[in-house]
Amino acid sequence: MCGIVGYIGTQAATEILLSGLEKLEYRGYDSAGIATILSDELNCVRAKGKLHNLRSKIEQSENPAPIGIGHTRWATHGKPEERNAHPHMDMAMRIAVVQNGIVENYRELREQLKTQGHEFVSETDTEVIPHLIAQFLKEEVALADDNSDVIFFEAVRKAVNELQGAFAIAVICADYPDELIAVRQQAPLVIGFGQGEFFCASDTPAIIAHTRAVLPLDNGEMARLTPLGVEVYNFAGLRQRKHVRMLSLSPTMVEKQGFKHFMLKEIYEQPGVVRACLDAYFSSEGDGADSLINLGLSESVYADLEQIQIVACGTSWHAALIGKYLLEQLAGVPTQVQYASEFRYAPAPLIPNTLTIGVTQSGETADTLAALSMEKERRQGLEPKYQVRLLGITNRPESSLGHMVPHIINTLAGIEIGVAATKTFTAQLMAFYALALDLAERRKILPQENLAEIIAGLRHIPKEIESTLETQEKLTEHLAHEFAETQDFIFLGRGINFPIALEGALKLKEISYIHAEGYPAGEMKHGPIALLDAKVPVVAIATPGSVYEKVISNAQEAKARDSRLIGVTPVNHGEAADVFNDMIPVTEVDELLSPLLTVVPMQLLAYHIAARRGLDVDQPRNLAKSVTVE
Ligand code: M6R
Repeated sequence: MCGIVGYIGTQAATEILLSGLEKLEYRGYDSAGIATILSDELNCVRAKGKLHNLRSKIEQSENPAPIGIGHTRWATHGKPEERNAHPHMDMAMRIAVVQNGIVENYRELREQLKTQGHEFVSETDTEVIPHLIAQFLKEEVALADDNSDVIFFEAVRKAVNELQGAFAIAVICADYPDELIAVRQQAPLVIGFGQGEFFCASDTPAIIAHTRAVLPLDNGEMARLTPLGVEVYNFAGLRQRKHVRMLSLSPTMVEKQGFKHFMLKEIYEQPGVVRACLDAYFSSEGDGADSLINLGLSESVYADLEQIQIVACGTSWHAALIGKYLLEQLAGVPTQVQYASEFRYAPAPLIPNTLTIGVTQSGETADTLAALSMEKERRQGLEPKYQVRLLGITNRPESSLGHMVPHIINTLAGIEIGVAATKTFTAQLMAFYALALDLAERRKILPQENLAEIIAGLRHIPKEIESTLETQEKLTEHLAHEFAETQDFIFLGRGINFPIALEGALKLKEISYIHAEGYPAGEMKHGPIALLDAKVPVVAIATPGSVYEKVISNAQEAKARDSRLIGVTPVNHGEAADVFNDMIPVTEVDELLSPLLTVVPMQLLAYHIAARRGLDVDQPRNLAKSVTVE
């Protein structure tokens, strides 16, 4: 939530900041603002709403300032109004601050600062920061000798030590026009290194057009950026040794490449994502003698496993539900899936030899990180069999999750810009297939030929997605035309496809703002069937396997209540053609692998309905791509 960017160098900062913010807009788009310093004067421009509002405010003026900070906001404290937009300033309007996160003790700090004569103009937690820095700056200036070049840095450092919460901050001051201070405390922040110019940003797409050399700050670290270089310190003021690394991301990966929306592009990238996961997780030679799976996880992750617990949110939680199915059915390990936000406050009783998995595409979701760190804490100091074992499944191994857990499965989907998760979900499923098979193999639960058969089936998936994508797209576009004004949708699935029904409903809700619910098909008769009539269409996922006939019967029960039935199903199988009013074809594959195919029409249906309604598919209202607040 919220994206921040900073620049110091020789070029005009404004355009660099604005184009950086464009790439961060997925993190929030309630308001945007930038502050720059030119001729020792601070110039701050802010605008409510999306970035284009800020751009049109700025474009009328030329500003060659070589230093600046910018922000795109997802509102937490205070409405999305201009006065609450970042950057926030001190009373003298010399210091400007942008923040991503929450300062939890801002009320106390605000009261204390008020007694010292500070007046506030916004409702935000962030505004206390420039005021606090101004207060410390006064003291530093009074104490410092003429040669001190760390006055501003020290004032920021002292202020930061007063803050509680999770935040990333960038600060500039008109009295120190050659310094930009960047701070990280449990919210992502990366420093970028160019030729005589330096950047900071919440995420790498904001700076990839300028540099691939980056240094992600760790929690409790702050960087001093000057035109001469970057110094990193901890909050106690001790210099830290850090290593710059090169990003594999390229600038074209964050472009739409001819697609109307990022979401559609990302849906179409799924065959490639599955191929990347297959190449990384499975050996190319399936000779049966050696392990077929290359997750690189040490035996200590798996030894004497009694249970697995998975914490996640949103779409990642849906992927985890499929993960549970696979881990239990293939590897025979009892598995629980918890909403991270619930687990934090009501954890399940401690069970020995438990593997805890955090699933988060961004690796920055506050609830998931907090659930994992709570698990770590409560197992600390216990006898060995109770000690914590953490594994992360993420698309961003460089994220906070990557720093927190010792083992990672990298989901290799490439950067996902659309707020609605699509290709990263599919990649998470691939990670779970690999994990469940790895475990099954190590526990000698699955005969080698079954294992090889499943992997062979997985290898066909990219081709199967490719061959149906275009047909599915045409059909879902056609359905979108008919259902664009529908108010309620029901999605039904059973067994391994129940989470796909949940995912179909979530996709539709978040980008089209249509009310939708996903149910296990057999549960309809226990209440929700009362919702059905001719105005409520039902999407049923009916794939051959253990529950096919059951889903068909449940669909017929819905049809008997006048619901229009849309089947996501192999067209030539069983009774499908007689039951469904409309069919979106999926290829017939092993039931176990079917979610990799059934999810695609769910994504396309939601996409086309939202696009038909003229909505902002990639940046739906009220949402942000990474939810870094509780
Ligand atoms: O980055 P994470 O996977 O932890 O994000 C979790 C959810 O916030 C995320 O899946 C959200 O539900 C998406 N908008 C779904 O499309």
